[in-house]
Amino acid sequence: MELLSQGAEARVFATTFCGRPAVVKERFRKTYRLPALDEKLTTKRTLQEARCMLKARKAGVRTPCLYQLDSANTKITMEKVDGITAKQFLLDCLQKGDSAAALKVAGEIGKMVAKMHDAQVVHGDLTTSNFMVRSGPGEGDVVAIDFGLASSKPLPEDKAVDLYVLERAFISTHENADPLVNEVMRAYKAASRKADATLHKLSEVRRRGRKREMFG
Ligand SMILES: Nc1ncnc2c1ncn2[C@@H]1O[C@H](COP(=O)(O)OP(=O)(O)O)[C@@H](O)[C@H]1O
Ligand SMILES: [Mg+2]
Repeated sequence: MELLSQGAEARVFATTFCGRPAVVKERFRKTYRLPALDEKLTTKRTLQEARCMLKARKAGVRTPCLYQLDSANTKITMEKVDGITAKQFLLDCLQKGDSAAALKVAGEIGKMVAKMHDAQVVHGDLTTSNFMVRSGPGEGDVVAIDFGLASSKPLPEDKAVDLYVLERAFISTHENADPLVNEVMRAYKAASRKADATLHKLSEVRRRGRKREMFG
């Protein structure tokens, strides 16, 4: 199997499943943890990842299709999304001066996060690398990936932190991110039934973030 990515907790390989292009995401042991505890945590995280991906999908968020969970609950096999990360897509757009395409993807991301949050799924790692933009069939569709840190029983505050992380990700990776961030938030507000409370909390989270920046 071809290794696509080696992360801190998981490796992603390219494979096929019933003849379809697929990826396997395999969580590995962390050697510094007690083996028995480690196995429990690895299994728990993998199950949680699959559960959150399905819950988001059920709520109408585009995610890879779940193909299989292995019996030991350490590997998830899912549809291989053909395309590039939203991060790369946005960088390409800005280089080409295609701000309309960039805004469209930003709006789509805001809408997807709104749907997740309304379904009580908090992603936990909202960066532009954890969204993909399809090429080929369904070209341009945005797909949410990497539910490895997601939670299906979030506190209200977790949703605000999710948005804060997303906002920081846009600002740190994309020049002139303001119009993109504004579009994410506009779309979030338009699509979420409970946006007001979350956006109110977001301003608190932002204030705390700024304080930390100033005073360390
Ligand atoms: N379903 C998928 N289809 C295509 N590529 C994927 C898929 N899932 C993951 N990848 C690729 O593997 C990388 C790492 O996967 P990810 O789930 O984000 O793992 P990690 O938790 O290590 O960040 C992604 O950035 C993406 O490039
Ligand atoms: Mg990732």
